[in-house]
Amino acid sequence: MDVSKIREKFKSLYGTEGALYTSPGRINIIGEHTDYNGGFVLPGAIDKAMYCEIKPNGTDKVRAYALDLNESCEFGLEEADKPAQQWACYIFGICREMAKKGKTVKGFDTVFAGDVPLGAGMSSSAALESCFGFALNDQFNLGFDRMEIALMGQATEHNYCGVKCGIMDQFASCNGKEGYLMRLDCRSLKFEYVPFNPEGYRLVLLNTCVTHNLAGGEYNKRRESCERVVAAIAKRHPEVKLLRDADMEMLKEVKNEVDPIDYMRSEFVVEEIQRLLDACAAMEKDDYETAGQKMYGTHEGLSKKYAVSCPELDFLNDIAKECGVTGSRVMGGGFGGCTINLVKNELYDNFVKKACDAYEKKFGIKAKVYDVVIKDGARKL
Ligand code: GLA
Repeated sequence: MDVSKIREKFKSLYGTEGALYTSPGRINIIGEHTDYNGGFVLPGAIDKAMYCEIKPNGTDKVRAYALDLNESCEFGLEEADKPAQQWACYIFGICREMAKKGKTVKGFDTVFAGDVPLGAGMSSSAALESCFGFALNDQFNLGFDRMEIALMGQATEHNYCGVKCGIMDQFASCNGKEGYLMRLDCRSLKFEYVPFNPEGYRLVLLNTCVTHNLAGGEYNKRRESCERVVAAIAKRHPEVKLLRDADMEMLKEVKNEVDPIDYMRSEFVVEEIQRLLDACAAMEKDDYETAGQKMYGTHEGLSKKYAVSCPELDFLNDIAKECGVTGSRVMGGGFGGCTINLVKNELYDNFVKKACDAYEKKFGIKAKVYDVVIKDGARKL
């Protein structure tokens, strides 16, 4: 992204220059809705990011300007100062979470913008939180490491934005590395970088350009379903704190005690954790065909059992299958946004054209196409 517009606006608003930071959105190959269940995820940071220019202003007020929205907001740093605009709450939340850890964040001026599509399942909000988390940590010398910054981004979502998300998005935004995926164990928070260079294949996202889930309501309900089932299992197996700790046998034991919908949601999660491990094992042997089949399995589960897909996403998934795409599935929280597709080089053009044409014909919406490039995480520019 061209940051000169941010620079110009900053200069014109505040009459000075600040420092520039960026933090990216993410993809996830497989392992969806597993993070808040303590399972594994396999994300990578991408070449679409949020950018901010920032400078401490010597007051106890934040003056923020959202360039993409042409909106400004001024707020204080005490708990009672929560701003009205949603976008400002991401910045405010990070400041508050840092303060809760006993660190002093003072007033600052900022302008920010980005090219992570909103509501597309590519983590624009995590990119924003991570961008400011990283920037404030650096500007005020707070000494947090990347994992702590990610966790404060997640806490911002929980405490100031109403979404009880897992750690995947903020983690990926903070820790991304060019050319590598990250296999994160969301229970221990240990992770490893996995080189990703599937020879002969390309990764492409198709954005349905629809979002059906406002303010995370359905997302939070999915999490509650999982938690109720964990509570039932824990009566027999007190060591089970998360669905990650459970297996199919334990799940079956409580089948008649829990709500059938909760059961179905949990079944998806237990299967999905295993699917990720199977896909990783296949990719280690360069077996992308098997990994692709697992991605289709994830879509099927997310659509039928976890119910976070929608007709637009299912339609794109069906076309991928018809076109012989190796793997395809809804990516991220769901309810709209993108499918992620692993496609052989020689099938790419035909697939993308066919999918976009058919999608427009059916829904009257132009899908957007993003080629995935795996890039570095949060950094100063
Ligand atoms: C959203 C959340 C993540 C994760 C995904 C689903 O992106 O922010 O924590 O739960 O949905 O895998």
